[in-house]
Amino acid sequence: MSSVALGGDDPPQTPPAPGGTNPPRPPSPLPQVIDELWERRTELSPADEQARAAVVGAVDAIDAGRARVAVIDPATGEVVVDERAKRAILLAFRILPMARSQVGDFRYDDRVPLTTRLDGVRVLPGAIVRWGAYVAPGTVLMPSFVNIGAYVDSGTMVDTWATVGSGAQIGKNVHLSGGAGIGGVLEPPNAVPVVVEDEAMVGSRCMVVGGARVRQGAFLGAGAILTPTTHVIDVETGAELPRGEAPPWSVCVGGTRPRTFPGGTFGMPCLLVLKRQPEGVRHDKSALNAILRDHGIDA
Ligand SMILES: CC(C)(COP(=O)(O)OP(=O)(O)OC[C@H]1O[C@@H](n2cnc3c(N)ncnc32)[C@H](O)[C@@H]1OP(=O)(O)O)[C@@H](O)C(=O)NCCC(=O)NCCS
Repeated sequence: MSSVALGGDDPPQTPPAPGGTNPPRPPSPLPQVIDELWERRTELSPADEQARAAVVGAVDAIDAGRARVAVIDPATGEVVVDERAKRAILLAFRILPMARSQVGDFRYDDRVPLTTRLDGVRVLPGAIVRWGAYVAPGTVLMPSFVNIGAYVDSGTMVDTWATVGSGAQIGKNVHLSGGAGIGGVLEPPNAVPVVVEDEAMVGSRCMVVGGARVRQGAFLGAGAILTPTTHVIDVETGAELPRGEAPPWSVCVGGTRPRTFPGGTFGMPCLLVLKRQPEGVRHDKSALNAILRDHGIDA
């Protein structure tokens, strides 16, 4: 997954005290005023014009892809969350008035309008992208839903009835198959968004939620469920792998593992890693017909 430059108006970070537990706060490209508004969020209303302008500016930066709810730190490979971006989005729900928008004869009433930045994106009727979500040129949106704060990178297809939840980060050349559900993450604070990395394939009706991570080139078989606490087991070795993560360039399916309770032994859901592909080689079933991807819109 590509990362955006981290910058902005924050003071330089101070490292945590030796032995201290406070992790360094990542800098945000969004202005500090968002944190100040967050502290007094209960007093805010759509009538506060200055506050509204600040929040709209911040969410618009996310809409334009200039700020993100999370990025992968290229140095550590860890997901770094911009809490300020999440705050700006939550503030938008408080501070934006209800407004009417119109698509053809169909009308919406909501606080968050639809995005207007879809240059270079092939969009079918029935697709919905809320303002505050960034969809890169070169993506294809079948009738699907992309929520505020999400980031969908180029070459990705969001297939029919797939949903990309708030704040979810989807990499390049990903296929989110029909009905796949990518969970959202705005609350609780400190929650980590779902990250689906470049070249991954998420099969039909999969559910990937709350901080789970699909690593680069991984293939999730239809119907797999991945939460941050899902056990992940390599069927070749029986090894327990890091929970909540589909390993890179692997083929995974939903399975069960036996667990004993006072009332008996039952099968609990888990993710089984069936195969490991060589790095850079996708499972042959993930090849999406070029005719479907080629969208003929200049990015
Ligand atoms: C996971 C998947 C890639 C495996 O394909 P494959 O490598 O050809 O492997 P197979 O189909 O031979 O399946 C291997 C084993 O896993 C099982 N299996 C396959 N897919 C499974 C799934 N989604 N969930 C659970 N088990 C699955 C098979 O029954 C088989 O078991 P067996 O060896 O005991 O017979 C494929 O089955 C799949 O789910 N593809 C996604 C399809 C999809 O969502 N397309 C999107 C269209 S919009």
